[in-house]
Amino acid sequence: MHVGGGSRTEELVDYYLSNKKENYETIDISDVRLSGLDVSELDRRNKLEEAGDFSDEIFRYAKMMAEAEEIVMAAPYWDLSYPAVLKAFIERTFVRGITFKYDDNRQLGLCKAEKLIFITTAGGFIGENNYSGAYIKGVSEIFGIKKIKQYQAEGLDIIGNDAKKILKDSKATMKI
Ligand SMILES: Cc1cc2nc3c(=O)[nH]c(=O)nc-3n(C[C@H](O)[C@H](O)[C@H](O)COP(=O)(O)O)c2cc1C
Repeated sequence: MHVGGGSRTEELVDYYLSNKKENYETIDISDVRLSGLDVSELDRRNKLEEAGDFSDEIFRYAKMMAEAEEIVMAAPYWDLSYPAVLKAFIERTFVRGITFKYDDNRQLGLCKAEKLIFITTAGGFIGENNYSGAYIKGVSEIFGIKKIKQYQAEGLDIIGNDAKKILKDSKATMKI
């Protein structure tokens, strides 16, 4: 979600992934151009869910989320949270019967992953306004993912700050 090249968030997530030994699949959700769920998509999805037919392409991201062994999400800090396309993506993953289910009116997570990593970068400081991190943590809990770890680099757009050093220091905190 960066105009031109040089996304700092991408630099951090690339660093994390390039140091992983395991194979991984990536989706650039800004490329996929998802918009928020609309009434017709929701209606179609509800009907498929009720019929227990999860073969449709509409469930692609929910299945990926459910089957992954580890999930890494990366998004810049925008307007105190994250770009809307990430919400649109998460809307596609919240599917009863794939990523969670109801059991005695309680939501139970169905995702295999034990760990979700959330990577973000901010021009200023996130401080107590970690709404993106809190939201991703909430999503992970519903999906049954127990460990959530956030890595961040902050103050990148503050004049006089050494953005390269901030990014390097953030990479050094990563446990991969
Ligand atoms: C639309 C937009 C909204 C932003 N909102 C905030 C904000 O609320 N707080 C903040 O500290 N930085 C904000 N920033 C700055 C970005 O968080 C910062 O530049 C970040 O490193 C961008 O990541 P990127 O290099 O991967 O694009 C905003 C940037 C953009 C483009």
